[in-house]
Amino acid sequence: MDPRSEVLLRQAELFQGSVLLAGLPADDLLGRLPAAHGWCWHAGDQAALDARFAERSHFGVNVPQREFHSAVVFLPKSKDLTDYILNAVASRLEGREVFLVGEKKSGIEGAAKQLNPFGKPRKLDSARHCQLWQVTVANAPAAKPLESLAQAYELPLAEGPLKVISLPGVFSHGRLDRGSALLLEHLDKLPSGHLLDFGCGAGVLGAAVKRRYPHNQVTLLDVDAFAAASSRLTLAANGLEADVITGDGIDAAPMGLSAILSNPPFHVGVHTDYFATENLLRKAAKHLKNGGELRLVANSFLKYQPLIEEHLGVCAIKAEGQGFRIYRAKRG
Ligand SMILES: C[S@@+](CC[C@H](N)C(=O)[O-])C[C@H]1O[C@@H](n2cnc3c(N)ncnc32)[C@H](O)[C@@H]1O
Repeated sequence: MDPRSEVLLRQAELFQGSVLLAGLPADDLLGRLPAAHGWCWHAGDQAALDARFAERSHFGVNVPQREFHSAVVFLPKSKDLTDYILNAVASRLEGREVFLVGEKKSGIEGAAKQLNPFGKPRKLDSARHCQLWQVTVANAPAAKPLESLAQAYELPLAEGPLKVISLPGVFSHGRLDRGSALLLEHLDKLPSGHLLDFGCGAGVLGAAVKRRYPHNQVTLLDVDAFAAASSRLTLAANGLEADVITGDGIDAAPMGLSAILSNPPFHVGVHTDYFATENLLRKAAKHLKNGGELRLVANSFLKYQPLIEEHLGVCAIKAEGQGFRIYRAKRG
């Protein structure tokens, strides 16, 4: 059981009604709170929840339509995403309760201040390195449309400017990552056919290859519904068409690909992100057709080369700069 769920269950009597669990972990909490319903934006967690608790969790970037009488928000990873989720639930809960739960190391103490616009927050519990906060919504805010929180910037590419639109919580929100910038400079001579942008975030790589190689089919894949929504906005802002899918890891990708491009997930200490990247390197060959290519950018200190060579084929370093490397390997 996730420690945040354990903290909720210490006061389970508070959560027996039709409570919305926003950003819930994929654990047994729905089993322990039979009238609760989930709202999830992580495709892997959603698949695990669906398998165990069919129809009990809603997936996507918008608060579920169904009625709920209180909400627990599991502290999201970014401040602006927390603001969006809190606003979305509080706008539906005039005079009712919103709870915020999170780990101390994720900054729950500071994040509790984000409850201030709705009323007077109280700390209800502190245990398992987590805190649980509560506020009664005195003035329900108007719901902010998600698009109003989007940030846009423009990239001067050789083929003309590319507009990139990102939503709260999405990697490198409102700016281009240095690793992605290096990969954008090394998108030449890709085999043509079906291209995949793995871990697409705001869709900068997928949109750039679709712009450069318009006759190729391009698929963009991310585990996060906000990233997929951003990628759709980026493609639309540039008049480009490509498939955007949500799924957990390379297993969710199509087969028969000509190239996989990625600035793969990497976060110190977050095991699942290592796993997604390792799994990509191990299984890329299965998703590439013969002669298909994996082209990655990664921090120079990450030792991906041996893993790529073990599972795919000879791996060359195509470029290096500012602490990043571009790796390139073909399926023989
Ligand atoms: C380093 S970011 C790169 C984003 C974007 N391609 C760019 O260059 O700005 C890695 C992305 O991988 C996504 N990701 C993390 N785990 C994943 C998984 N298991 N399956 C698919 N995507 C994942 C994250 O949501 C994030 O958007």
